[in-house]
Amino acid sequence: MVDTSADWIVSRTGIHRRRIAADSESTSSLATAAGLAALKRAGLSAADLDMVIVATSSPDSLVPATACRVQAALGAFGASAFDVNTACTGFLYALTIASRFIETGSTKSVLVIGAECLSRLLDWDDRNTCVLFGDGAGAIVLQATSGTAGVQHSILGADGRGGDLIQIPLGSGRRPSTQSVIDGSHWIKVCGNEVFRWASRIIVSAIRQLCLETGLALDEIDWIVPHQANDRILHCAAKDLAIPLDRFVRNLADYGNTAAASIPIALAEAAEGGRFLPGDRLVLVGFGGGLTWGAALLEWG
Ligand code: COA
Repeated sequence: MVDTSADWIVSRTGIHRRRIAADSESTSSLATAAGLAALKRAGLSAADLDMVIVATSSPDSLVPATACRVQAALGAFGASAFDVNTACTGFLYALTIASRFIETGSTKSVLVIGAECLSRLLDWDDRNTCVLFGDGAGAIVLQATSGTAGVQHSILGADGRGGDLIQIPLGSGRRPSTQSVIDGSHWIKVCGNEVFRWASRIIVSAIRQLCLETGLALDEIDWIVPHQANDRILHCAAKDLAIPLDRFVRNLADYGNTAAASIPIALAEAAEGGRFLPGDRLVLVGFGGGLTWGAALLEWG
């Protein structure tokens, strides 16, 4: 469809393959599947949930929230439900909101999902974006616990001045939808090179800030679970932080950039592969449209 090659994509991004949702699927159906898998693993039922949060920048619709569709599909009728849209940082924002609610004591069990159907928002004639993104979903259940395991600290940041660098301009306020389809503003637009340089800096500064605020030394981090946007960003971060690359959980090669879903997919895959041991210190780090970024320190239970 576009002038590109497998060699270019692999060497410039690290992506070998990715998943595209079937016509019958949507962000909410992927989110529901991930949510069910997380509940099963946690040994909980949907009735146990107090809250469902879906981080996504490709919601099924503006209203209702995708989280409400998921709540209905799961039958989690005792749970509040809402979406968080901070693009690729969505999962970090949702995780932080969920852990703060749990810390207040008012909320016991929260299903936090990152889910995207970005293939529907890709301009397949734009080689700058159509080779990068994939569809998917990942989920975790957060619960109140008396032990030390869990989310120990998180930081969040935003700089709206960089909003134009990653955009899906279609919305409710700026221009009528009919006009948007004519001028292509329903497609994802990315200033790749500028985002690349910014992302390579912010991933490092977010991890450093998290370490500063928690007193954690860089060499005490067992695993970094980063947003999977470009393997070269992770190579740069590993070099700048002097942390071996094999302590970064990387699965971009198999999924492409799944935005808000990338961190929970990487987390779930690594957990299923038995890579984390009880007591391991994990740093999750995300960055993306907004511009936004975030990092969280977790102790694996
Ligand atoms: N196939 C072949 N050539 C391509 C291409 C593709 N799919 N996409 C872009 N190019 C070309 C560009 O047109 C440019 O050609 P030119 O020099 O003739 O203009 C050339 O490759 C280099 O472009 P550049 O933007 O400098 O490449 P890059 O090294 O920055 O890699 C990205 C491009 C998109 C892979 C990289 O910038 C990136 O990963 N950015 C961050 C990803 C992102 O934005 N994620 C979303 C938020 S987390």
